[in-house]
Amino acid sequence: MSKKDVVHTTESEIAVHWQEEELYYPSVDFIAQANLTDTSVHERFKLDNFPECFKEYADLLSWYKYWEKTLDTSDAPCWRWFVGGELNASYNCIDRHLEKNRNKTAIHFVPELLEERTQHVTYQELWVRVNEFAALLQDFAGLKRGDRVTIHMPMCAELPITMLACARLGVIHSVVFAGFSGKACADRIEDSQSRVLISMDAYYRAGKLLDHKVNADLACEFAQGMGQKVDKVLLWERYPGKYSSSAEMIGGRDYSVNTLLKEYYGQRVEPERMKAEEPLFLMYTSGTTGKPKGCQHGTGGYLAYATATSKFIQDIHPEDVYWCAADIGWITGHSYIVYGPLSLGASTVIYEGVPTYPDAGRCWRIAQDLGVNIFHTSPTAIRALRKLGPEEPAKYDFSFKHMTTVGEPIEPAVWKWYQQEVGKGKAVIVDTYWQTETGGFLCTTIPGMNPMKPGSCGPGAPGIHPIIYDDQGEILGAGAGKAGNICIQNPWPGCFQTIWGDRDRFVETYFGRYNKDPESTDWRDWPYLTGDAAFQAEDGYYRVLGRIDDVINVSGHRLGTKEIESASLATAEVAEAAVVPVKDAIKGHVPDLYISLKPGITPSPEIAQKVSDTVCKEIGKIAKPKSVWIVADMPKTRSGKIMRRVLASISNEQDVGDVTTLMNPDIVAEIKEQHLKGSK
Ligand code: WTA
Repeated sequence: MSKKDVVHTTESEIAVHWQEEELYYPSVDFIAQANLTDTSVHERFKLDNFPECFKEYADLLSWYKYWEKTLDTSDAPCWRWFVGGELNASYNCIDRHLEKNRNKTAIHFVPELLEERTQHVTYQELWVRVNEFAALLQDFAGLKRGDRVTIHMPMCAELPITMLACARLGVIHSVVFAGFSGKACADRIEDSQSRVLISMDAYYRAGKLLDHKVNADLACEFAQGMGQKVDKVLLWERYPGKYSSSAEMIGGRDYSVNTLLKEYYGQRVEPERMKAEEPLFLMYTSGTTGKPKGCQHGTGGYLAYATATSKFIQDIHPEDVYWCAADIGWITGHSYIVYGPLSLGASTVIYEGVPTYPDAGRCWRIAQDLGVNIFHTSPTAIRALRKLGPEEPAKYDFSFKHMTTVGEPIEPAVWKWYQQEVGKGKAVIVDTYWQTETGGFLCTTIPGMNPMKPGSCGPGAPGIHPIIYDDQGEILGAGAGKAGNICIQNPWPGCFQTIWGDRDRFVETYFGRYNKDPESTDWRDWPYLTGDAAFQAEDGYYRVLGRIDDVINVSGHRLGTKEIESASLATAEVAEAAVVPVKDAIKGHVPDLYISLKPGITPSPEIAQKVSDTVCKEIGKIAKPKSVWIVADMPKTRSGKIMRRVLASISNEQDVGDVTTLMNPDIVAEIKEQHLKGSK
């Protein structure tokens, strides 16, 4: 985003009038056992002590070689953390726990079907399985340090096994959310130049066994079309020894992992000694352009940050049973299902299916049966559980000491239900604000120290120093009464290192806006732009309002409007497309799609359906438009730019404001009329 192209929303201009919520305090019992209650943390992590304060975080890891320099800024703003250090993430998440805890459960895998028993993978077993699979990846697939591998897998124990096997070899994994289409997977294969795709034949979702191998076929086909050949597809089987897909296995390309693994039984692989700044993984996310960005996370900085925030903010203790109900295909799952908890030697729960299958009591039964005491989910899931089963939590015997909400703003009413019904009035809640790019939490309360305020994420996490700038670069301090662009003043270890293969886009998008001097190697000159509008209350707590760029947050997942628009344009009849977010009671927002057709083409429900289907095929069902409105023309500025803001106001039944300066003001009334009639 260049300075002049920054999309201005009204959010950063309007004053925010909202009711101040009352504060909730952590219980005495929680505080008594909390990992972080020492008030000197504020002093230790203040800006004057930056960057050395993060030594505490790095010291939670086991290093082959201790690092020499905490932060190297010479290649600003591509920061390098813990320079000179060497470590391995798989060693940190597995091997180092064996001596004392080899028999402890590392992963509880809960299949969606009620008749299937939970699988408990001990640290010893995890170690064996990761070693064997790493040997397979090395010998059979020929993978080595620095290679990229795309993983398109559902929630299962084999997913962290696959990630950790890659990490053991220094292979950079790129996990794609299983709900994404074969085409979306192909885009990521191509961008990361992966020649190996790891997938699974099938998985359960809402009681149905979904055929997932078909997506691997599509991904390979599309990737080949883009010039990236996939040599090998390694397929895990949902039922080992029984292939559950209708798609043919392609000779010389597709291999069953469960069959191949027999050759590798008993094999062990020494973990690679990775430099702290060598990449651990890529995680693709949406931005302002149609092309997803491969956020590159480093080994030492990322792992230190995920581990420390899991310990101090998630308050994970060795004896806890921790369940983060996010999907590993998103950053939350990477940091707070896999790397953070396992690095701490905790027991982490992985649930295959939807939280409301077969009924809204499922989550609470899982919690009861496994003795889960830390629970982590999104406002979307909380809203759905509250709507479908408000009385359900009370029926089960479970007790959470700590709960997390992540991914989108949470309404105070929903927060209070979570606190009262799910937390049974006892659990502490952290509302964690962060991003794919940031590797771990940016803003959150410290659970044993700060009071909670429904709807506010709280202050910056230790060592994170947020600052809000208005569009002119003036600081909007605590109690300013106005929202602005929330930035982070300083680097932190969890921050991504660059966009894979596109350093310029990295610098421009995240630092271009408020950078004071492009030549500077002083971190103070490089505030990080989150892309969110936020507001700071008098007490210093932040409240995040939403994105300032073309990103829609659907169920806490990021979708780029440009990605949906270009998918719509793949339908032959469509001339123009515009996507806007509409408020939704459960999902937060959903995309609403406006299209205009090429000359001579008559609008029909079939075309609308076709466009909707294309979006699902190109991106995945998660991007399915709420409605497809076929309009005669788009509202445009005199320079021909589509006014998405006007369309968004119409979709959300809000006042469109002054539209008289548009090139075609009449179209606004026409589209409004269409909405009133519901004629799409
Ligand atoms: C939004 C998810 C309000 C925000 C970890 C951010 C939030 C985007 C919160 C990142 C929260 C995340 N309160 N909004 N607690 N957490 N967001 O990359 O707009 O999938 O920029 O990372 O989600 O989404 P992402």
